[in-house]
Amino acid sequence: SLGRAGMRDLAGARLVITAGPTHEAIDPVRYLANASTGKMGYAIAAVAAARGAQVTLVSGPTSLCAPAGVRRTDVVSAAQMHAAAHAAFEDADAAVCCAAVADYTPAAPADHKLKKSAEPLHALELVQTADILADLCARKGDRVVVGFAAETDDLLAHASQKLRSKGADLIVANDVSRADSTFGSDTSRVALVSASGVEQHETLPLAQVADLVCDRVRDLLGARA
Ligand code: CTP
Ligand code: CA
Repeated sequence: SLGRAGMRDLAGARLVITAGPTHEAIDPVRYLANASTGKMGYAIAAVAAARGAQVTLVSGPTSLCAPAGVRRTDVVSAAQMHAAAHAAFEDADAAVCCAAVADYTPAAPADHKLKKSAEPLHALELVQTADILADLCARKGDRVVVGFAAETDDLLAHASQKLRSKGADLIVANDVSRADSTFGSDTSRVALVSASGVEQHETLPLAQVADLVCDRVRDLLGARA
């Protein structure tokens, strides 16, 4: 079963969840991407909906089906995800930014398929994408915003830094150098990092991690009701 047995403790809460990777076009048939499968974000969407939340899932390209009771908005690029997340945030109570958003996008994607030539390709010019999480935090008011941090080194230091620099209420820190906690895994070992400190959890199935995140969202929403 999904979500803490029988709980409807998110009833009425409107959540925006970003999930999956983004694809940044190089030309009409090629793109830059990353190893995100979307499993974590979809698990949070499924559990939040099962606990009564009204969920808008802003999803990059994944092979997953929309969980029951979840409204999904499909996007491809970081720019599209930014626009969709901000539009949905307008009428939301909380946002959970779980997506592995590309940090860079090709500066000038070609409108035709690039041909190989005898010359080596020395560089692809990239520009930085907008930070969806930081921009949501900048306009959050009394809404709740949760971010993720996937790191291979200095996990807690980077996560605390992200909590401060982005202005989020909570960062879910995940050590992706571990086989039981990396992209594509059905389990994750997370630390919940907030102003009240660090709560380290053991390796858990994603549905249980989703329950932990939903517990925190409920508590944070309750604290400002
Ligand atoms: N994020 C986002 N938009 C971006 C980049 C990141 O919303 N353009 C969000 C992610 O969804 C995640 C959090 O920011 O919730 C942290 O992402 P991460 O990639 O770990 O951090 P960055 O700030 O991008 O820094 P770096 O990749 O250098 O660690
Ligand atoms: Ca990043």
